[in-house]
Amino acid sequence: GQLEKGGYPHFMLKEIFEQPDCINDCMRGRINADGDKVVLSAVIDHKERLLKARRFVIVACGTSWHAGLIGKQLIESFCRIPVEVEYASEFRYRDPVIHEDDVVIAISQSGETADTLAAIELAKEKGAFIYGICNAVGSSIPRITDTGSYIHVGPEIGVASTKAFTGQVTVLTMLALTLAKEKGSMTDEKYLEVIRELTVIPAKIKKILISNPKIAELSRIFTYAHNFLYLGRGYSFPVALEGALKLKEISYIHAEGYPAAEMKHGPIALIDAEMPVVVIATHNAMYEKIMSNIQEIKARKGKVIALVTEGDTVVSKLADDCIELPETLECLEPLIATIPLQLLAYHVAICKGKNVDQPRNLAKSVTVE
Ligand code: G6P
Repeated sequence: GQLEKGGYPHFMLKEIFEQPDCINDCMRGRINADGDKVVLSAVIDHKERLLKARRFVIVACGTSWHAGLIGKQLIESFCRIPVEVEYASEFRYRDPVIHEDDVVIAISQSGETADTLAAIELAKEKGAFIYGICNAVGSSIPRITDTGSYIHVGPEIGVASTKAFTGQVTVLTMLALTLAKEKGSMTDEKYLEVIRELTVIPAKIKKILISNPKIAELSRIFTYAHNFLYLGRGYSFPVALEGALKLKEISYIHAEGYPAAEMKHGPIALIDAEMPVVVIATHNAMYEKIMSNIQEIKARKGKVIALVTEGDTVVSKLADDCIELPETLECLEPLIATIPLQLLAYHVAICKGKNVDQPRNLAKSVTVE
């Protein structure tokens, strides 16, 4: 009913707008009031086991797998522990090498995904330690894992996952920070910088949400498209994948996410005046390289929608449209850059008259294979 949607036309839009509050809920009690310490209790309780791991393996499906790709970069960068990310459905059937000292992190919004459950069972049999990151309290995955952390973002109703994704990335950031502190693998300066910035992410998301009408307006011109390409590098590559998935799920437009530098190995052949390309082109280490990708797209008459850092004047001259994002640390950018891509997918689907909360052929939770 309308009441449950809190005045929003769809659960998806409500859940997108809830994200500043959700991320605060997720951090509550885990980051102290002074903003200088993160404690994820499961990490502290099991720190010996986690620190003796020779590697972490993240297993998940769908959007949760995209969060896992970001988690890999965070854990490797902060903790210097190698991390592999696998689709649970592939992992469970390929006779994977699992050591007793491995730690498997299972990420699942619903806590009920059949493939993720089966991947956990397999890893458990081989003696790995299992850490769950779930939303649904008391669901199957938290019951069979050795330990874990809830993301605490509240029930997610829209089939296309939004607030669970940013909640998962927030927990993975806190996990990496807590572990890095225990391991001593991060300088105090960097540790404090990341925590301080993490605590202001909700306010920065609020700023992006103000551009919702502008994104709605922009979306109207893309209903003609049959294909979309999403490009990003580093921490933004999984964001590109997630942006493309959101569009596919609810607007039924084919979309692909690609690491920007891989464009020349294939996708560039597809670019013409009918091909919108969403480029995450914020100020980071790869800015100059992304800029040359934009020039290559423009040279082939592709339409570029760029996500840029506030105040950017260079990309705005090249791109057809720009969406400005507040500046943040590169490692936290996924939490910011994902938001306009969720809104873009939502509005394109609305313009096409699609049922955004219940897209055809998709289920919120896939409890069968
Ligand atoms: C389904 C949902 C997706 C979700 C995926 C994994 O495909 O439609 O939104 O990302 O399952 O679900 P989980 O609950 O394990 O995160």
